[in-house]
Amino acid sequence: MKTIKDFDLFNKRVIIRVDFNVPIKDRVIIDDNRIIMSLETICYAIDKGAKVILLSHLGRVKTEEDKKENDLKIVVPRLSELLGIDVKFSSNTRGKELEKMVSKLSSGEVLLIQNTRYEDLNGKLESDNDSHLGAYWASLGDIFINDAFGTAHRAHASNVGIASNLPSGIGLLMEKEINVLNSVKDKPKRPYAVILGGAKVNDKIGVINSLVKKADYILIGGGMCYTFLYALGYNIGSSLLDNNSIDYCKRLLDKYKDKIILPVDNIVSSKIEDKDTSLVSINSIPSNKMGLDIGPKTIELFEEVLSKCNMVVWNGTLGYSEVREYETGTKSILEYLSKSKCDTVICGGDTAAAAINFGYRDKFTHISTGGGASLELLEGKILPAIEAIEK
Ligand code: 3PG
Repeated sequence: MKTIKDFDLFNKRVIIRVDFNVPIKDRVIIDDNRIIMSLETICYAIDKGAKVILLSHLGRVKTEEDKKENDLKIVVPRLSELLGIDVKFSSNTRGKELEKMVSKLSSGEVLLIQNTRYEDLNGKLESDNDSHLGAYWASLGDIFINDAFGTAHRAHASNVGIASNLPSGIGLLMEKEINVLNSVKDKPKRPYAVILGGAKVNDKIGVINSLVKKADYILIGGGMCYTFLYALGYNIGSSLLDNNSIDYCKRLLDKYKDKIILPVDNIVSSKIEDKDTSLVSINSIPSNKMGLDIGPKTIELFEEVLSKCNMVVWNGTLGYSEVREYETGTKSILEYLSKSKCDTVICGGDTAAAAINFGYRDKFTHISTGGGASLELLEGKILPAIEAIEK
């Protein structure tokens, strides 16, 4: 597969698809890891004299209101600061103004285009990979580089669409992500454990089916564990439940009961905002309470399993770790793994943010910028954005 290094970039209009889908709270970027991780490719293109055009999505845009929430201009000051140059910004995703800005770009300059998903308000043109939109964006450049690993599991106009219309390659971040994760997929050191958590239960529960065949242990915490506990007959109170997956979880537990490790205790509260927390064993969650973090016995149990492992992949926090009362499970396991001899790969925005914010940025084998993308790659699925470059 071609990489950015296989192209002569000098004076060329180089479109780089990045993943600047960063978490934002109260109009502030709360984790800039994805911006930092994109710098190597952008700086490489600048150094080689390219006219750099950046495209990214931010959040999901379904209404006019969502546009305000997901205005990509928020990234410009931080990106300019990190690059040490003034990054230009086009508030239009197409049209004469944008084309004029592109034509005025000089070698070494960088232009960021507004959130690609603004085009979803015109009938999901971006997310449905509208061929005209992909061809239009491609017409703005000479070369296409896809460095948005976090979005590689999506077939959208701004990745697959452009790649079908221009000489294309992958960026340096994408290359690193593919190499690290492919080696975990193809020859994981054994014993190999996968830790799964987080709140996107419906999105992720399906991947367990394929990961459980590849891994020696699957440790489940976070919002995801409660559907499994419910399937075992526990009262889970008002904890997260994916109603459609109960039978599926039952079947998995029947088949792989020795591999799937579930919490034995947890911290519960009536609401995330309430700080009336209590520690209860998993068979005594009060009906009006929800599980928000794993408890000390579970931490011990997880550490005991992890102590046998030489490879750990972790996607999804083990509790609602943005809130101090529910951060202990995630923090303890991060601390444990940071000191362990095993290779650890952290995947997913929230888990990566927790690892970085709790001070473990350089303590692991790899912190991936991909959540869904990394899990799908580890499952053995073909990622459409990578396939489009290979083709
Ligand atoms: C991610 O954060 O996983 C990627 O940026 C993809 O975002 P999406 O799930 O909204 O497509």
